[in-house]
Amino acid sequence: MSLGIIGGTSLFGTKLLEGAKEKEVEIKYGTVYLLSTAAHEIIFIPRHGKERNIPPHRINYKANIMAFKELGVEKIIGVTSVGSLKREIKPRFLVVPHDYISLCSIPSIYDDELVHVTPGLDEGLRTAIIKVAKDIGVDLVENGVYFQTMGPRLETRAEINLIKNYADVVGMSMASEATLAKELGLRYANVSTVDNYAHGIIAEEELEYNMIVDAASKSMAELEKVLMKLIEVIHAD
Ligand code: HPA
Repeated sequence: MSLGIIGGTSLFGTKLLEGAKEKEVEIKYGTVYLLSTAAHEIIFIPRHGKERNIPPHRINYKANIMAFKELGVEKIIGVTSVGSLKREIKPRFLVVPHDYISLCSIPSIYDDELVHVTPGLDEGLRTAIIKVAKDIGVDLVENGVYFQTMGPRLETRAEINLIKNYADVVGMSMASEATLAKELGLRYANVSTVDNYAHGIIAEEELEYNMIVDAASKSMAELEKVLMKLIEVIHAD
């Protein structure tokens, strides 16, 4: 059974995807571009698409997660980039969120039916990520609340000042993916790279998007190690 990985563009070009075959699949919600590897038995969906240019508020989350379901994937690891809301959670750390907040509207499989899932991240997959990351010795935050904002803009200082009281990291996609996975009965957990302090957390620092992209590619080597080992562990399970 393949493991599903959904991530940003910085995973392209990693060992994870060596020898991967590209494919486009038609799902009732739209077309999904994905890569699959026989060697590691993974199906990777780059959430920003083949051309790496779909912004967070335009991602077809329903098609992406439904594609996993239709391809028989039962376990999904979401890899995301986040900003830190706490001084002690430093850039380059990895965070494995245990919960999330999403106060804005997010996509649902149940647009025409009265179904209400209870959200949650998969504890078994979370435990596996934490164990592997600890064995490798990366700087790790084992629990954290992920706050999802809509994007594509970054947050204002005032917004960060508010949400830092309730969450540990901020990003633009995990809550949508985790919720849809839950709706479809799939197991989903997340590992996030901390790529910046959120706007205003370090008062004198002005946040710019290219700083985030630079940091994300620097974290990639460690993340790659964690994911390679994690795939082995999950397949052996
Ligand atoms: N805000 C929202 N999303 C992000 C950030 C941020 O500061 N960093 C990486 N993704």
